[in-house]
Amino acid sequence: MIAFILNNMRIDKYLGITGCATRAEAKKLIRSGAVTVNGAVVKSSDAKIDPERDKVIFCGNEVIYRRYTYILMNKPEGVVSATEDGRDRTVIDLLPNDIRKTDLFPCGRLDKNTLGLILITDNGELAHKLLAPKSHVEKKYFFKSKFPLTAEAARQFENGLTLEDGYETKPAKIELSGSGDEGVITLVEGKYHQIKRMLDALGNKITYLERISFGPLTLDESLGRGEWRYLTEEEAAALEAHGIKNENK
Ligand code: URA
Repeated sequence: MIAFILNNMRIDKYLGITGCATRAEAKKLIRSGAVTVNGAVVKSSDAKIDPERDKVIFCGNEVIYRRYTYILMNKPEGVVSATEDGRDRTVIDLLPNDIRKTDLFPCGRLDKNTLGLILITDNGELAHKLLAPKSHVEKKYFFKSKFPLTAEAARQFENGLTLEDGYETKPAKIELSGSGDEGVITLVEGKYHQIKRMLDALGNKITYLERISFGPLTLDESLGRGEWRYLTEEEAAALEAHGIKNENK
């Protein structure tokens, strides 16, 4: 089934999937003669290619085919990190129909009211490696809290806290800014409602939470809430390398 789809992919879609350009940009560039397939200029966006065999040059650079899809989304509030949900809209629902594949899923979870970077992929093996507790993949969050954090609270946060269910958090990092009621938290784990529960344990409360990085990926500030783009070739390579590095820990 997958092979069938790949062997018959439209060139504009292929350029989109590989992160070369948006589909609309790709159409324009194809018309302008900026794309060759096996040495011949292709000016029609619906020309079909076989990504595994054909050599595609886009604006002078060879396009590297990746087997998997990687999408970086700026998750808005009120949307759940799931593939389907009976009540709420999911991050997958925010993708246009033509790229929605049944095997795309969010890699990890953000709470319904947490904003920011979420990776969507169809690479289950890599997601498994990146999310495995032993991988310790770093995630950074910008937060705001109800009350300023004292130096003692920050120290406790960094050393590890006991949550209400008895779980001992791993050492984390907190960089305070403003008047101490906002800053950046770095975690190497991802327990349910972890940051909210850590602040609760300190008698404080999270009022705003936005993920700004996940492993080697950082939130693309040019993406509005609910917007997405494919990972660039460099980002996809860094992510795959991160999975392999962490697997060997
Ligand atoms: N910690 C939380 O409490 N919520 C998130 O969405 C992510 C980390």
